[in-house]
Amino acid sequence: MPDIISLLPDNIANQIAAGEVIQRPASAVKELMENAVDAGATEIKLIINDAGKALIQVIDNGQGMSETDARMAFERHATSKIANIDDLFKIRTMGFRGEALASIAAVAQVELKTKRPEDDAGTFITIENSVVTRQEPIAATNGTSIAMKNVFFNVPARRNFLKSNASETRHIVDEFIRVAMAFPAIFFSLTSNGQEVFHLEKGSLKQRIVQILGNSYNAKLVAVQEKTDYVNIYGFVGKPETAKKTRGDQYFFVNSRFIKSAYLNHAVMNAFQEIIAPDSFPAYVLFIDLDPAQIDINVHPTKQEIKFEDEKIVYAFIHAAIKHALAQFSITPALEFDLDISIQQLDAVSKPFTADKQEAATSSELYKNFTQKNQAHFISPTNKSELKHWREFYESTGASPATPKFESLLDSIKKPDASSDPETSQTGPHHDLRFQVLPDAPLLQLHQCYIVAATNRGYILVHQQLAHERVLYERFTDALKGKSMAVQRSLFPVTLQFATPDAVLLADLLEELQLLGYQIEPFGKDAFVVQGTPADTETGDEKKAIESLLEQYKHFSSDVKFSKREKLVRAMAYQQAVKNGQSLAPAEMESLITGLFACTQPNVTAGGNPTYIEFKNDYLEKLFGRG
Ligand SMILES: Nc1ncnc2c1ncn2[C@@H]1O[C@H](COP(=O)(O)OP(=O)(O)OP(=O)(O)O)[C@@H](O)[C@H]1O
Ligand SMILES: [Mg+2]
Repeated sequence: MPDIISLLPDNIANQIAAGEVIQRPASAVKELMENAVDAGATEIKLIINDAGKALIQVIDNGQGMSETDARMAFERHATSKIANIDDLFKIRTMGFRGEALASIAAVAQVELKTKRPEDDAGTFITIENSVVTRQEPIAATNGTSIAMKNVFFNVPARRNFLKSNASETRHIVDEFIRVAMAFPAIFFSLTSNGQEVFHLEKGSLKQRIVQILGNSYNAKLVAVQEKTDYVNIYGFVGKPETAKKTRGDQYFFVNSRFIKSAYLNHAVMNAFQEIIAPDSFPAYVLFIDLDPAQIDINVHPTKQEIKFEDEKIVYAFIHAAIKHALAQFSITPALEFDLDISIQQLDAVSKPFTADKQEAATSSELYKNFTQKNQAHFISPTNKSELKHWREFYESTGASPATPKFESLLDSIKKPDASSDPETSQTGPHHDLRFQVLPDAPLLQLHQCYIVAATNRGYILVHQQLAHERVLYERFTDALKGKSMAVQRSLFPVTLQFATPDAVLLADLLEELQLLGYQIEPFGKDAFVVQGTPADTETGDEKKAIESLLEQYKHFSSDVKFSKREKLVRAMAYQQAVKNGQSLAPAEMESLITGLFACTQPNVTAGGNPTYIEFKNDYLEKLFGRG
């Protein structure tokens, strides 16, 4: 048999490797902007056409490249940022792998124009399929311009995989914001199809936050500043009144790099505990600067996840820094302030950081508490443990194991992945009820939260909010499949102005919202006109309703396993469901219960929570010692 292994040609190898780094136009935007930052630019302009699919161009006034470097830059593993393995532990630049431009050149047509201040002429290079097709001297201003055209022109499978223009634009805006937020001393602009979407003058971090997140944060930001030898934490958190129903405006930057960290997010949430409603999320833009040797950036192709040498210490510092900031602004009660002083006096915070200080910090009460709380973070959600208690309760009474009904309920909860999988929850088998709600028995609302309904073999305790979520979820899912929704036309259409990121998101969702009964049309820059809303939503505060819907949508945004439509349906169902604390008239309860049992899967919400719990007479009798 002949030998069968051969080396892949460079351009194919490059294309494969590029898949990791350049997943969509937004990834290229991130890489090109980061290169411009690394080049010491003070002005960075991003131009996109057709959501980046036709053109992504980044123009900077940074240090430029020599003729040879300009060509080298597109080679894989070619970088000016690290030279040896030790440098990997000292990274202060955004880039270090020398892969971004090689990846970009493998999947697009690239034009580079660059000039160093010390050179008379600049260099112009064009590249296609990783091959230089033209190179010549050119008159140019100092700095670099890289234009990337027709991304994935040579990888049709990837090109077809790209989402709608509105959706890709939104990803680009997200990446643009993440870089622009981290470098307020740099001017940034974003022009999309000839229209300038962002124009961010240089300024302070506070100004940059307001420029990007909107004027509503003006005078609503609290400075956070905590400096030790180990870590420097600074930035802003929103005052408690700016907390939103879902996480939206939350940014962590480690050594100026945007990162995602559920763990550190928990530290912030913890510090805000008791001063904001339990189901709301504070805004934060926090910078964590520390010795690069204390982190590993090389754990994820897009560098958005990093590893801390000692994540618990960082957690403790963030928590303390925010508590301190809130206390200084008298946002936390006086009692908290006392606590805060004790935090301040901890060696870990007040003294230079050394190995024995680390020892001291980890043996302190504060640290132990944090550790316990962190563990709490990983405990399964309460609904599961509560149900476990029910089961234990049944078992300890010697009653037979849960009924099939109860069992299936437990099963659906034990496997949240299965029940939250949109495929199974939409197309799953019709739920086997085996009981009937007695049509003539009165319904009883308890604590403005539960509805008790008698059944032919006991009763069920229905959770009004979760049950309504299920009803709406199925109704909205049907609407997206083409079942029309009743719309109430606004007598006087309202024009609404949004912060740019929200406007971009809304534009992306317009088509689906239309199917769901929202008649919204674009109306100039970041503005929309609302012509109609779903028939059963309240009118009057459309802006608030739409903003809260967007917030809710963002909540699911990081969840890649859901499609856009699934996220929207879940967001709307959650947002529009009747909440706990709301009194329901008998007719409303009745329509809720009827609606619930008309559902294809009445027993759980899309997120996997039970909507009701059944209590059977024979069990109840047993509990009373009579069974
Ligand atoms: N806008 C720019 N101005 C000046 N030099 C640049 C610019 N963009 C890239 N370079 C040079 O080209 C090199 C290669 O860039 P590339 O983005 O491929 O790799 P990197 O930034 O070193 O690492 P990474 O792959 O992690 O981004 C850089 O190291 C830098 O020297
Ligand atoms: Mg780079």
